[in-house]
Amino acid sequence: MSKTYRIAVMPGDGTGPEVTAEAVKVLKVAADKFGFKVDLTDYDFGGERYKRTGETLPDSAIEELRGYDSILLGAIGHPDVKPGILEKGILLKARFALDQYINLRPVRLYPGVETPLKDAKPEDINFVVVRENTEDAYAGMGGVVHYGTSNEVATQTAVYTRAGVERAIRYAFECAKKRNAKKPWRGLSQKDLDAGYIGQLTLVGKTNVLTFLFDLWERAFHEIGAAEYPEIKRDYNHVDACCMWFVKNPQWYDVIVTGNLFGDIITDLGAMIQGGMGVAAGGNINPQGVSMFEPIGGSAPKYTGMNIINPLAAIGSAHLMLDAALGETKAAEAIEAAIMDVTANKMKSMAAGKMGYSTTEVGDLVAQRVADYKG
Ligand code: IPM
Ligand code: MN
Repeated sequence: MSKTYRIAVMPGDGTGPEVTAEAVKVLKVAADKFGFKVDLTDYDFGGERYKRTGETLPDSAIEELRGYDSILLGAIGHPDVKPGILEKGILLKARFALDQYINLRPVRLYPGVETPLKDAKPEDINFVVVRENTEDAYAGMGGVVHYGTSNEVATQTAVYTRAGVERAIRYAFECAKKRNAKKPWRGLSQKDLDAGYIGQLTLVGKTNVLTFLFDLWERAFHEIGAAEYPEIKRDYNHVDACCMWFVKNPQWYDVIVTGNLFGDIITDLGAMIQGGMGVAAGGNINPQGVSMFEPIGGSAPKYTGMNIINPLAAIGSAHLMLDAALGETKAAEAIEAAIMDVTANKMKSMAAGKMGYSTTEVGDLVAQRVADYKG
């Protein structure tokens, strides 16, 4: 009997529904081709529903979401809703309530995709950022006194726990191990290979200033690495230097592990060097629970309903879902290969309105290639 995955689909706001429709189209073709079924249920959480009902993502919905195998999200963000309400009420609420403690963000330049980095080739930009997704300044500790006066004081404390740091670090080491299981990472020297290394994990932090926080990270990183992952080379970068290396030497990275806020920031830079928000996908992952996959860009309200937005990031999030949450690795491989064929041979640009195709046509091109996949 073929396996059925129950998937909650939250298309959300702006162009979210358009790109999600293409991701679903490709997912269905992949399911047919690779012998599994997807049972999809739509949820209308987002700005429109909030305006209508005042509801963001109620607790009852969280309980329902726990019953799915995975969640596919389009985009959250509405021009008429004050910034923070939907982000906190929907996106961050789902991440925290479902304990999606990993934010997995691959940074990969697909063939044919333009990058602002002069002379960079697809083989130069191919790494994964593992962003811790539930702690840091996002934890919500802090407050304000003397609000609105000249004596106002605001605090928002970055919080890290040994347990929270350890689970993110272990996930990142596993990721490096899996990524390099078939072939050692291209950046290793002969000396590294002789030493038995197969991949590299870079901790990105700020040990020179955030001495309490990143001392905790650093000790956990080296203790876990030495005891459990001797085949993964350990490296460390300050976050500011990491931003510099993303631009100057992106080929230095294999897998990165970092905190929530630094991870948020460096992955926007990562998205730019991989060709922009049109292609960058991510996953909010709870390896023991329900994960949620999303394009990392926003709802792009000005392009809504025009059928010109790039759906590849949404299709890429379906690819990530199959790979990282459902374990349908063959289907995932087929989708990624199809995306690469379309970027290399069809699309003129990754930018909205400049692709040479409409949103639905790009979805069709990818879907066709998944159907024809011989891998
Ligand atoms: C992201 C976004 C979110 C974050 C916002 C919308 C809350 O920027 O997914 O990277 O900061 O995590
Ligand atoms: Mn962000």
